[in-house]
Amino acid sequence: MNAKTARVAVLISGRGSNMVALAQACLDPDYPAEIVTVISDTYGAGGLARADEQGIKNLVVARKDFSNKQAHEAALSRLLAACEPDVICLAGFMRILSAEFLAPWQGRIINIHPSLLPKHKGLDTHAKALAAGDTEHGCSVHHVTPGMDEGPVIAQARVPVLAGDTSDTLAARVIVEEHKLYPHALQMLIESLGV
Ligand code: GRF
Repeated sequence: MNAKTARVAVLISGRGSNMVALAQACLDPDYPAEIVTVISDTYGAGGLARADEQGIKNLVVARKDFSNKQAHEAALSRLLAACEPDVICLAGFMRILSAEFLAPWQGRIINIHPSLLPKHKGLDTHAKALAAGDTEHGCSVHHVTPGMDEGPVIAQARVPVLAGDTSDTLAARVIVEEHKLYPHALQMLIESLGV
């Protein structure tokens, strides 16, 4: 392993395809990161099995096991601190994190979002792009701040919107770019942090 390998924690809620894309990038000995843990906020998230397949330690900190958001975030914070990550990647993690949770990680916690931010924050971004009549769409990796999908953008990838596109065809075109963009943006961040 590269002596300068950055330790990365990945938070997921669902199928985990972006987590797998990051894990695949980490297989390259020249890539400056390793995934030290995957944490899901949902039992049975597809990404957990995929982390197992990749041989990556994974666990669940389910929101439903805690009485409130603060307690859930406190448990997440404790686990993350114990893993000593240099960077935290949100990859389909469906929660807005509080300022208190984010403070220790500011500048070191990033997210991937399926739109060309600042356009189309939140859910259903592909339908929103179609409804807006956009001629291009894409994805963004950005710093995480308390505002939803509002942090500074690190990198973006663009795709054309084609005649006859549906949300599904557009999503399929964007996710291919997500899987290339996230490892690229993570590497850019790690290099800029000098981890
Ligand atoms: C991706 O489209 C990502 O941009 C968004 O949620 C989706 C997660 O997909 N934040 P996956 O779980 O990585 O497959």
